Parts: sequence; C-alpha cells; structure tokens
Amino acid sequence: MYIIFLGVPGAGKGTQATEVAEKLKLVYIATGDLFRQAIGGETELGMRVKSYVEAGKLVPDEITIKMVLDRLSAPDAGRGAILDGFPRSIKQAEALDEALGKESKAIDKVILIKVSEEELLKRLGGRWTCPSCQTLYHEVSSPPKVWGKCDRCGARLYQRRDDAPQIVKRRLRVYFAQTAALIDYYEKQGKLIEVDGKGEVAEVSERITQALTQGEFVAR
Ligand code: AP5
Ligand code: MG
Repeated sequence: MYIIFLGVPGAGKGTQATEVAEKLKLVYIATGDLFRQAIGGETELGMRVKSYVEAGKLVPDEITIKMVLDRLSAPDAGRGAILDGFPRSIKQAEALDEALGKESKAIDKVILIKVSEEELLKRLGGRWTCPSCQTLYHEVSSPPKVWGKCDRCGARLYQRRDDAPQIVKRRLRVYFAQTAALIDYYEKQGKLIEVDGKGEVAEVSERITQALTQGEFVAR
C-alpha cells in the first residue's frame, strides 16, 4: 500500500501523514526530513542539497529520485509506504510509477490537503520542529508541554530556516510552477482524494480517515 500526501507548504502533510503511517504501520518517508537530516549531519548528500533546501527551491530530480527509490527498496518498505513531499514534479511521479510498476506495485491513493494561503502563513510562522525525532509543534495550535523542548525525546526545538517569509513565498511559487501539475496527473489515474485542511488537526485527521476508509485502507 502506497499513499502520497500532496499540498502546499504548511498544508499539514507532515502532521497528518505521520499519523496515517502509525495507524497503518507503514514506513513514513518525508523527503524534506531526509534532506534536513542530511544537512544537519553534514553528509555528502547534505552538502549537495543544502543550497536548494535553504533557498526554497526543488532539489534536482536525479538526486531526489535516487534517494527515494533507495529508501523504498529497503526491507521495511516492502509492505508499502506513506510518502510526504514526494513526488513533487511530473518527472519524479513518472520515475516512481515506473519503479513500482517493475515490481507489480502501484500508488494506491494521493491525499491532497487543501488550505488557504492565509492559513498556511499562520501555520508556518508558528511551526517548531524537533531536530531529532522530527515531531511537529505549533506555538498556538499544538505547543509542546515544556516550551522549546520536544515532548517525545526532550531535544531542543528549532524553527526551519525556509519558514522565513521570503523563502515561504518562493516555496509557494515553486509549488504552483512545478508540483501543482501532479493534481491533474493523479486525478487522471483516478487516485486523487481532496481533503479540506481547514480546522483543527483532529478534524482534518478524521476527514482523511473517512476518505481512506471509503477506499477500505484504514481499519476504524
Ligand atoms: P518539505 O519539508 O516537504 O516542506 P513543504 O512541502 O514545503 O511542506 P512543509 O513541511 O513546510 O509543510 P507540511 O505540509 O508538512 O505542514 P506541517 O504538517 O509541518 O520540503 C522542504 C524542502 O525540501 C523543499 O523546499 C525542497 O527544497 C526540498 N524537497 C523536499 N521534497 C522534495 C522533492 N520531492 N523534490 C525536490 N526537492 C524536495 O504543518 C505546518 C504547521 O502547522 C506545524 O506547526 C503544525 O503543527 C501546524 N498544523 C498542522 N495542521 C494544523 C491544523 N489543522 N491546524 C492548525 N495547525 C496545524
Ligand atoms: Mg512537512
């Protein structure tokens, strides 16, 4: 079972996709998290992608596709995966379809989380992230129990550099120029599910569960 989470920056992909991955006991693969970990660890991959991620531009397809296909070929992804932030271009989507097709597998559903620009600016402006376990917080809607510390692992939370207003603007432009075409791509394949991302985390989560339950993906 392979489910993709699609949506503008700050739509809530990470927040919702991690929950679905836990429910379905599937590996959670978030390209943004993998890149940030590589940058933080100063690995060779990190050095190659740093300038793109920090500027809010897409990392070149060949680097991203190789990283994801390698990750998907690991034994823990044999039953499927929840993909957050990948694919993000038609080329990436085609490479993914081709790689899965070779193993007689396919993407099952694509969840598109829809939020207004006003809402995503509020969400990104108040986001805090754990650098160690990647748990997401928001200073208003989901603050940590102890300010600045991760509830799960105690690490000190940080704000992403690419959440600076100018970079957010570029990330949005990039989304509409290069990623939004995937909506059509997956709609044509009959896999797209649009979910209203407005409201509290639990409300959005309920809508996603309902949408997936109709497709009999999530046992309630
Ligand atoms: P990535 O990390 O994927 O960033 P993004 O797509 O811009 O999305 P975000 O992570 O900012 O938002 P989200 O939708 O996950 O929202 P979240 O759940 O955190 O990518 C970063 C960069 O990596 C890219 O710019 C690019 O450089 C590179 N990259 C990644 N993938 C790539 C690819 N495939 N190809 C090439 N380059 C790639 O929620 C946001 C905030 O809102 C949080 O604080 C959360 O607590 C809060 N929140 C969530 N839901 C709600 C709610 N319902 N109500 C109130 N608050 C909420
Ligand atoms: Mg995210």
